[in-house]
Formats: sequence, structure tokens, C-alpha cells
Amino acid sequence: MKDGKTLVLGIETSCDETAAAVVADGREIISNVIASQIDVHRVFGGVVPEIASRHHLIAVNEIAAEAMGEISPAEIDAVAVTEGPGLVGAVLIGIATAKSYAYAWGKPLVGVHHIRGHICAALLETKELEPPFLSLVVSGGHTSIVDVAGIGEMTVIGSTRDDAAGEAYDKVAHVLGLGYPGGPLVDELARSGDPDAIAFKRVMLEAGSLDFSFSGIKTGVMNFMNTERQAGREPNAADVAAGFQQSVIDVLTAKTMMALERTGRKNLTVCGGVAANSALRARMKKACEEKGIGLYIPSPILCTDNAAMIASAGYFAFEAGERADLYLDAHAALELD
Ligand code: KG4
Ligand code: ZN
Repeated sequence: MKDGKTLVLGIETSCDETAAAVVADGREIISNVIASQIDVHRVFGGVVPEIASRHHLIAVNEIAAEAMGEISPAEIDAVAVTEGPGLVGAVLIGIATAKSYAYAWGKPLVGVHHIRGHICAALLETKELEPPFLSLVVSGGHTSIVDVAGIGEMTVIGSTRDDAAGEAYDKVAHVLGLGYPGGPLVDELARSGDPDAIAFKRVMLEAGSLDFSFSGIKTGVMNFMNTERQAGREPNAADVAAGFQQSVIDVLTAKTMMALERTGRKNLTVCGGVAANSALRARMKKACEEKGIGLYIPSPILCTDNAAMIASAGYFAFEAGERADLYLDAHAALELD
């Protein structure tokens, strides 16, 4: 199994997925186990932090054992774990687990920034992809454009000033009565809608800004629904979903293309949960083809939270000499650069 390769066990518990994975040399997935808590949180319409922590605690050792499979602890070179940003109690469970393994096995411990993990997901599927490249990170908690000069050299050049794109998807899904998590449901419903039937605002902020604002579009959809319902009309939900989605994707694509032009980067990765969105994937593909940009979007299972991406980022940090000690702490907020 080992074959002279560096094996990293990754652990991810920052939100509602308990995940563990073993990755070889930062690029080859040996195992990738994900236990989703979606069914637990669905009745509440969103992730309940305390319940998430408890479920991580119940599941994490079993998930890690499944990821290890036949691999013996002696073959593992380092244990990598998400240290933030995320739900602090949830992150803490992963950290305590990773520390225990690292201590018991006598292995180095590496703390990983969750977004650095999302960005490294693209490296798992495209072995030849090397920095520099630009990365659009779109998830439930983050929307940022990151210039990746090197794996250890990431600079945020634009980010949301309010809601993340995924958060807007989830809230719009709620208004449409679609359930939780909303992103995939809006994605699905939008396929049968007309994206031009209802025009929602595109918030571009100041000319040339690479920042985002998605709270306005979310409120715009809510106001539209309220006004229509008060007038006794029930809008076509598929048209609302398609119109909302088109507006979000217009902004994401325009800003990303602007960032590519400004940085001169020739390759783009799109990652994070919203990168699983079918319409965003199709639009980015078209825009990148027109501009001669290489586009790398991980498979949907590597876009949403997983531990293979944490093991990959952990490998590169480990190779760069980064080590955490047993005082490693969980952070609800953590700067990438
Ligand atoms: O990266 P992720 O799993 O967790 C965070 O780090 O936030 O992203 C979760 C987010 C949720 O808001 C979810 O609704 C959204 O990603 N999402 C999608 C799709 N699949 C997941 N949004 C739009 N279309 C999808 N197909
Ligand atoms: Zn994430």
C-alpha cells in the first residue's frame, strides 16, 4: 500500500459531515469516508451546532477506522485535521480525535485551514495541476476568489461582504419551501424554470471590485415572493429558482473572469459545495473556453465537505515543514492568508 509514498490521514468535522480519508503524496485518494448528518439537521431546517458536535463525537472514530481500513498506523506519516473556520464545537471534536491518534501513534500533527482544503480538492483529480492558478471558493460559509501562487502562498483577492453564495441558495430554498440543504434542490428545480422570466438584481458593488454581496438577492427573492403572495398570486417556483440562480451565477462568473484578467492566471479551479451546481459548472466551462482558460472543477463529492481535501492540504503543509503541537486549537474564524 505504502510503496514509499507519504500517507496522510485527514479528519474533517467543521460542519455537518464527519469525514476521514487517507491520501498518498497529496494527490492519490486511498480512502474517502463521509458520514453526513443531513437527516439529523433536516427537521430543524439548518445545522444545529451542538447537535453537530454530538454526532461528530459518536461517529468520528468509526469513520476514521473505516478510512484506515487495512492500513496500519505505522504506515501513516502524518495526521491532518481541519482547525477552522467552522462551528467551533464541531471542529474541536476533529481536533481532539486527530491529537489522540497523533499522540498514540507517535506521528506529526498538521492543522489545516478548511478553505485551503477545498482548494486542494482540485489537485486530487488533476495530477498535473500545479500553481499558479486562480480559485473560486463557493460554499455554505464562504465565497472568495483566491490567488494561488503556491500551495502555501494563497491570497484572498475578493470575498463576500455578507452572505456566502451557498447561504443564499439555502435561504431561497427555504422561501420556496424546498427543504434543507437547499442548494441541490434549487439546482434541480431551476432546470425546469425559465431563467429570464423574473429578473433579480445582480449586485456588482463598486466598479472593479472583486468582492461579492449576496444578501440583497436573497432579500429580493423574499420580497418578490411576499408581494406576489399578498396579491394572491403564487409565483412559478421553478422560474424563481432559475432567475435567482442565473443572477448568482452571472455575478460569480463576471467577477471570476475579471480576476483572471487582472492576475493573468491561465488556470482556474472552482471548489466548495456550490461548485457542485450544474448551471455554475456549465457557465464556467463556457466562459473559460471563450477565454482560453484551463478549468478544473472537482467531482461533486469532492466539492462538498470531505476529508480527502484536508489530507491533501495537510500533505503539502507537512512537506513544507508545518507541524502543530498538542495545543492546536479550534477556530470559528481563521484568515486564509
Ligand atoms: O463546502 P460545503 O459542503 O460546506 C461548507 O464549507 O459550507 O458547502 C455546502 C453548501 C450548502 O450551502 C449547499 O446548499 C451548497 O453548498 N450546495 C449547492 C449544491 N450542492 C451543495 N449549492 C448549489 N447547487 C448545488 N448543486
Ligand atoms: Zn466546506
